[in-house]
Amino acid sequence: MTDTAFNASRSGTFRIGGDLKINRLGFGAMRITGPGIWGPPADHDEAVRTLKRLPELGVNFIDTADSYGPDVSEWLIREALHPYPKELVIATKGGLTRSSPDIWKPVGRPEYLLQQVHKSLRNLGVEQIDLWQLHRIDPKVPADEQFDAVRSFIDQKLIRHAGLSEVSVEDIKAASKFFDVATVQNRYNLVDRTSEDILDYCTGQNIGFIPWFPLAAGDLAKPGSILDTMTKKYGAHPSQIALAWVLKRSPVMLPIPGTSKVAHLEQNIAAVGIALSDEDFAALDVEGRKAFHAAS
Ligand SMILES: NC(=O)c1ccc[n+]([C@@H]2O[C@H](COP(=O)([O-])OP(=O)(O)OC[C@H]3O[C@@H](n4cnc5c(N)ncnc54)[C@H](OP(=O)(O)O)[C@@H]3O)[C@@H](O)[C@H]2O)c1
Repeated sequence: MTDTAFNASRSGTFRIGGDLKINRLGFGAMRITGPGIWGPPADHDEAVRTLKRLPELGVNFIDTADSYGPDVSEWLIREALHPYPKELVIATKGGLTRSSPDIWKPVGRPEYLLQQVHKSLRNLGVEQIDLWQLHRIDPKVPADEQFDAVRSFIDQKLIRHAGLSEVSVEDIKAASKFFDVATVQNRYNLVDRTSEDILDYCTGQNIGFIPWFPLAAGDLAKPGSILDTMTKKYGAHPSQIALAWVLKRSPVMLPIPGTSKVAHLEQNIAAVGIALSDEDFAALDVEGRKAFHAAS
């Protein structure tokens, strides 16, 4: 079944690295793992159903990482979607280790990063990774060594494009001396505006900006938030208003809401049907900034 009314194609398109064309509203595959992003999901079959529903809903951009599970998210993507539809772009990441549930520690030594690129190639069953992101810049390793390693992965054609995660504008500029930074993945949503200057920089440079926690880890998907007025006005679910707002915020915005459930996925993708007026966008912006400053 192909849905046209609520198809991710209605979110507009973006070309990652200038050539990989995707629909802007994507999917984050961190939530298809167990508690603490560790081990298999509670409901394996529902996770697989959720992944299989993506192409039917026009979602052709999936974000994952070697560390989600670890490995579990990449394995499930392969199980559900391989052989992959031609237009599907899978972005993965490396550079964070997992010693137990909820523990994430950066390791940026070049030989480790190379190992993880090879593991992701094998896990996903691809010859080249479309977009590989350095999950964190490891403060214990010179940044230049990590950026040089990333460039070597591009040179060896192990990865097509490279991105960064949780970085400053200075980091992006430093990395750009080694490779073209195709995307930046930082935490961002209506009520978390820490990365506002980085988003503006990415917009100016046409670098894809992938906001993680677009639903504030689910808080913006619950009733009782600052979205309530708009949910009534638009007859929409809170998650849909939150996603419609980030999509309108910048043409380089590539949200990747995460869920392990088909019903939530369908609800989130239906955000493409909401055309927030400029006035309502601005009103939400003011409310979001207020909530952010009050919390920080
Ligand atoms: N670069 C990084 O350092 C980093 C860090 C964290 C995440 N990420 C990426 O960003 C993606 C998104 O972040 P996230 O998953 O942490 O946060 P999120 O997308 O803001 O929120 C996901 C949470 O919201 C719930 N949810 C989703 N849709 C819902 C709906 N319609 N109604 C009610 N609840 C809903 C999900 O639970 P259910 O499963 O029950 O739907 C899940 O617990 C991740 O999947 C991952 O790919 C990157």
